Amino acid sequence: MSEADIILKAEDICKSFGAVEVLKGISLEAREGDVISILGSSGSGKSTFLRCLNFLETPTSGTVSVHGEEIQVRDGKPLNARHIETVRSRLGMVFQQFNLWSHRTALENVMEGPVQVKGTPKPKARAAAQALLERVGLQDRMDMYPSQLSGGQQQRVAIARALAMEPDAILFDEPTSALDPELVGEVLKVMQSLAAEGRTMIVVTHEMAFARDVSSDVVFLHEGRIAERGSPEQMFTNPQTEVFQRFIANVK
Ligand SMILES: Nc1ncnc2c1ncn2[C@@H]1O[C@H](COP(=O)(O)OP(=O)(O)OP(=O)(O)O)[C@@H](O)[C@H]1O
Ligand SMILES: [Mg+2]
Repeated sequence: MSEADIILKAEDICKSFGAVEVLKGISLEAREGDVISILGSSGSGKSTFLRCLNFLETPTSGTVSVHGEEIQVRDGKPLNARHIETVRSRLGMVFQQFNLWSHRTALENVMEGPVQVKGTPKPKARAAAQALLERVGLQDRMDMYPSQLSGGQQQRVAIARALAMEPDAILFDEPTSALDPELVGEVLKVMQSLAAEGRTMIVVTHEMAFARDVSSDVVFLHEGRIAERGSPEQMFTNPQTEVFQRFIANVK
């Protein structure tokens, strides 16, 4: 494969909050169709890393490129900041807490980005949003407000909202951790179907079955560094590092 197949590339991402170094040089590449699960204990830097990829958090140093659009950061300053909006618009993000607009219906939540950010005409955005809500199984919930939806339904709206921007890759930060156990399955099923259709996804998760059965690569973060990475089969059947062995022994 050539460089051209790389959708998302992070090189040597470091992030400090004051004197605390949270990310100590993380590099990661995602090619088209990759589903990369990021595992790690609480506080290992998983969310911070995802947030650095789309500049919700500015790294202290490192380089992020999305489809060749590159942003280098030195001393906390992006050298080519004008690419930030482009990079951000090419990366969808799904959060643990859904982050839907509470005063907008499901349909309006999904239409918002294309209309406001991309200038898509409303009728076209509406038709696309309807198709996406159908895609995530919410055809009969389109006109409801977030407060009228279950957590699993809200998260599926959030996934449809991310898809509406036609992103090159989607970042998920523990998308099922805030859900009641009986609602986790419906969200994982949608994510699995996105993986099956070849979407590029980076998923921070505690769902070991998803990491093992759906992802193409698994990365284990420990104290701000990648302690181990590999195929799910290799990682789950033959973990190499003591820290990862301990991690999977505890979550099983
Ligand atoms: N805005 C911030 N200011 C100061 N410290 C922060 C900030 N955000 C994160 N941190 C610190 O960075 C470290 C990593 O946090 P992060 O949220 O990335 O961990 P995580 O791996 O996502 O954990 P969890 O599994 O609990 O979500 C933690 O020690 C956290 O306290
Ligand atoms: Mg987190």
